[in-house]
Amino acid sequence: MTSSAPDTRATRQAIIDACLWMNRRGINQGTSGNVSVRVGTRGDRMLITPTAVPYDMMTPEMLVEMPVTGEPAATGPRPSSEWRFHQALLAARPDMQAVVHAHSPHATAVACQRRPIEAIHYMVAVFGGADVPLTGYHLFGSEALARDVAATMAHRHGCLMASHGAVVVGETLDKALWRIEELEALAKMDLLCRAGPVPPVLLSDAEIAQVVQSFAAYRPGVAIPEG
Ligand code: 13P
Repeated sequence: MTSSAPDTRATRQAIIDACLWMNRRGINQGTSGNVSVRVGTRGDRMLITPTAVPYDMMTPEMLVEMPVTGEPAATGPRPSSEWRFHQALLAARPDMQAVVHAHSPHATAVACQRRPIEAIHYMVAVFGGADVPLTGYHLFGSEALARDVAATMAHRHGCLMASHGAVVVGETLDKALWRIEELEALAKMDLLCRAGPVPPVLLSDAEIAQVVQSFAAYRPGVAIPEG
């Protein structure tokens, strides 16, 4: 066990359950993607999945506890290579408790086309506005990627990272899981709409603003069955 207090044990298990749930849903596989959750009485620490460990081999002790600001410990298990953007998002968004990154196939396909997802469907509002924006391309794990992700998500709850994948934040871990699954579905709809001869009709900013407001009180539950 790392420096974690015993009270992080349930959170550690919840993160592993979330990872396995994503595997079962085809949202992630192998060692792709990563998850973090804010912990600590002041909310200034985070638990994050370790780097390069397949989800189905992950145990609670392997998760890494580290500060939301500052470097990870020099010894002990290594955090996800993407710890910088997890930190950047949790630091910039005190209202958010969890960050989920995935290489889910449809969202990643759109990210590889290097375009945002526009307001093809009202569910785009789940991400806080009239699109799911796109970052530039940066090396995975880099400071440049972290900076771009945090800036791109300043007014959004999710984004696509060019030629890489998707990232979302959540007021809770369940809400982040809800968003990552909805982002994958939205990307699939987008690809289907754009594959046909008739382009999708985009919702207006006013229509999306109305949905964003309605979602403020929406409390989705994600049932994670025992794996
Ligand atoms: P980690 O195994 O370091 O979390 O990397 C996986 C990944 O998806 C990087 O973007």
